[in-house]
Amino acid sequence: MTRQESAPIALPRPFVKWVGGKSRVVPTLLRTAPRRFGRYHEPFVGGGAFFWALHNQDRLHQGATLTDVNLRLVRTWRAVQGPVDRLIDRLAQLSAAHDKEHYYEVRSWDVDAFEDDVDVAAWFIYLNKTGFNGLYRVNSKNGFNVPMGRYSNPRVCDPVTLRACHDALQGVELRHGGFDDVAEQAERGDLVYFDPPYVPLTKTASFTAYSKGGFGPDQQERLAVVAQKLKDRGVHVILSNHDTPVVRGLYSPRGFKRRTIQVSRPVSAAAGKRGKVNEVVFWSPRKR
Ligand SMILES: C[S@@+](CC[C@H](N)C(=O)[O-])C[C@H]1O[C@@H](n2cnc3c(N)ncnc32)[C@H](O)[C@@H]1O
Repeated sequence: MTRQESAPIALPRPFVKWVGGKSRVVPTLLRTAPRRFGRYHEPFVGGGAFFWALHNQDRLHQGATLTDVNLRLVRTWRAVQGPVDRLIDRLAQLSAAHDKEHYYEVRSWDVDAFEDDVDVAAWFIYLNKTGFNGLYRVNSKNGFNVPMGRYSNPRVCDPVTLRACHDALQGVELRHGGFDDVAEQAERGDLVYFDPPYVPLTKTASFTAYSKGGFGPDQQERLAVVAQKLKDRGVHVILSNHDTPVVRGLYSPRGFKRRTIQVSRPVSAAAGKRGKVNEVVFWSPRKR
């Protein structure tokens, strides 16, 4: 094959935008990960930024299990792992029809009634790429309610990236479930990365006031207990969150090491308002 004929090569990377996506923290996570580990587990996978980074450094030698509580998201990952060419065709159709009316029509589809993961994935990726800021937000009936974003020409279908992700996902286990499952699955020497919904930063959002999003103080505490159990069992654990006194109080007394990272990102609901916030990475110390 001549140079001109050769297919474009792309490294796999997140195929959905995900709020809290870890792209800026990934270099620290890569430095923090042990040189060698067993299976990789990521229970809050979202867009999977750290998973792709580890894959692209060829550090996943014993396989990976990726889990999320959002079934629509997990079915989207499964469609990318499975019939990706059908997904690409479907996304191309949705992309060609994109306008305001089409966005709101697609948004109203009863996605959970779809039997085919490809239909769920096309719905998910189309709305993710054309909706406001790539947000995923649902009402009390699990209806997706994000308004259309203001993009002149959103890239809905990226076949090269989707095929690269498809290849990389062969043999990877994709699970729908809560983070506690990992406590039973991870074995000594494995690596677990926890990237939970973050503890809020603002002073007005108190520790007890953020359970609305489904991940409140009780779950943060339960997660810390699970993380400690895994660490004590000889599993390598890495965890990220906002750097707040509450978060330090959960992990420092449990014997995790800590590094703070300043990142620039949206800090208010007002579109485009960015600022510096501190994120923190905790990891289990290596046993000598
Ligand atoms: C901060 S995001 C993860 C971002 C991800 N690391 C990335 O790079 O895109 C948190 C994720 O946790 C999921 N989640 C929320 N509660 C959960 C739970 N109890 N168990 C497992 N996943 C959960 C959400 O659906 C979301 O995908």
